[in-house]
Amino acid sequence: MERILVTGAVGQIGSELVEALRKKYGNENVVAAGHKTKPTEEMRTSGPFEFIDVTSRESIERVVKKYNIDTIYHLAAILSAIGEEKPQLTFRVNIIGLYNILEIGLKYKLERIMVPSSIAVFGPQTPKENTPNETILRPTTMYGVSKVAGELLGDYYYRRFGLDFRGVRYPGIISSKTLPGGGTTDYAVEIFYEAIKKKKYKCYLRKDSTLPMMYMPDAIRGIIELAEADIKNLKHHSDYNLAAMSFSPEELTKEIQRIIPEFKCEYKPDSRQEIADSWPKSIDDSAAREEWGWKPEYNLQSMTKDMIQKLREKIFKGF
Ligand SMILES: NC(=O)c1ccc[n+]([C@@H]2O[C@H](COP(=O)([O-])OP(=O)(O)OC[C@H]3O[C@@H](n4cnc5c(N)ncnc54)[C@H](O)[C@@H]3O)[C@@H](O)[C@H]2O)c1
Repeated sequence: MERILVTGAVGQIGSELVEALRKKYGNENVVAAGHKTKPTEEMRTSGPFEFIDVTSRESIERVVKKYNIDTIYHLAAILSAIGEEKPQLTFRVNIIGLYNILEIGLKYKLERIMVPSSIAVFGPQTPKENTPNETILRPTTMYGVSKVAGELLGDYYYRRFGLDFRGVRYPGIISSKTLPGGGTTDYAVEIFYEAIKKKKYKCYLRKDSTLPMMYMPDAIRGIIELAEADIKNLKHHSDYNLAAMSFSPEELTKEIQRIIPEFKCEYKPDSRQEIADSWPKSIDDSAAREEWGWKPEYNLQSMTKDMIQKLREKIFKGF
C-alpha cells in the first residue's frame, strides 16, 4: 500500500507531482508538505496537507508517524541561483535535510525514497556535449555540491542499509502551473509569461547559452516511472541522467516567434551566466533508457506550443 509524503510540495515540481500522485494512488494516500508558502486551495482541499521544516527531524517524523508513510518524494531544496546567495542555508536544507530524510527512512523502514538530483552535479571539467552518466563530478556551486553529496549518500544508504533510494538528474524544468523557485534555467519559464503579456523579455543569459531542458509532463512521468521500475533491472540508483531537449535562449526565442511573431528578446547576462557556463549543453540518458525504459515525449516545438496555449488560458482567463 502506497502512503506517500511529498516534501517541497508547494514548489514548481511538487505542485504538479502531488496532483499526479493523488490521481494515481488516491487523494488521501498522498500527503503534501509545504514549508512557508501557502498551498493553493486545490492542493489543500484535495488531500492531506502539512507544514514541515526538513532541517528539523522531529518535524518530518511527526508527519511520517501521523500518516503511516512508506514512501517519500523528497523535493524540498534551495535551488542554484538562490544557493549562491545563501550557501549556508543551502547546505542546511539540501544536505542536513536529506540526511534527516535518510535517517527517518531507516528508522521507519520506509519502502522507498525518491530524490531529484540535477545537471548541477556537473562542473567546468565535465565534458559538455552528450555528458555521460559516469563522469567528472566537480561542481562549483553550493547547490551542485549538495546534489553530489545527496547522490553519494543515497547510494551509500542503499548499499550499506538496503534503503531503496532512487533519483534522476533533472535538467531545467519548464512548466505552466507554478513559477520556478530561483534556479539558473528559470528564464525558460519567465520568457513565456513576458512574451504573452508584454511581447518582450530581457534574458539574463547569453543568447547562445545552450542548456538541457525538459517539459514538466515528462519530468513527472519520469520520476514516477523510476519509482515503479523493478529494482532487479536497476544498476544505478541515485543518479540517472535524464534528457529531453537542449536549446539556447535564441533558439527558444525563434520558436516562440513562430507563434508570437512580434516577440523580441534582449540579452543581459548576470551572475547566473557563470553557473550556466559550468553546466553541460546536452546529456546522455542511455542508462535511464536501458534500465527502466525512459523516453521523453516533448521536444522544443511541442513544448513551446503547449506552454503558450496553457499560459494564454491562465493569463487571459485570470486563473
Ligand atoms: N526546477 C528545476 O528546473 C529543477 C532542475 C533540477 C533539479 N530540480 C530538483 O527538483 C526538486 C524540486 O525543485 P523545484 O524546482 O520544485 O524547487 P522549488 O524551489 O520550486 O521548490 C522547493 C520547495 O522546497 C521548500 N523548502 C525550502 N526550504 C525548506 C525547508 N527547510 N523545509 C521544507 N521545505 C523547504 C520551498 O518552500 C519550496 O516550495 C529539488 O530537489 C531540485 O533540486 C529542479
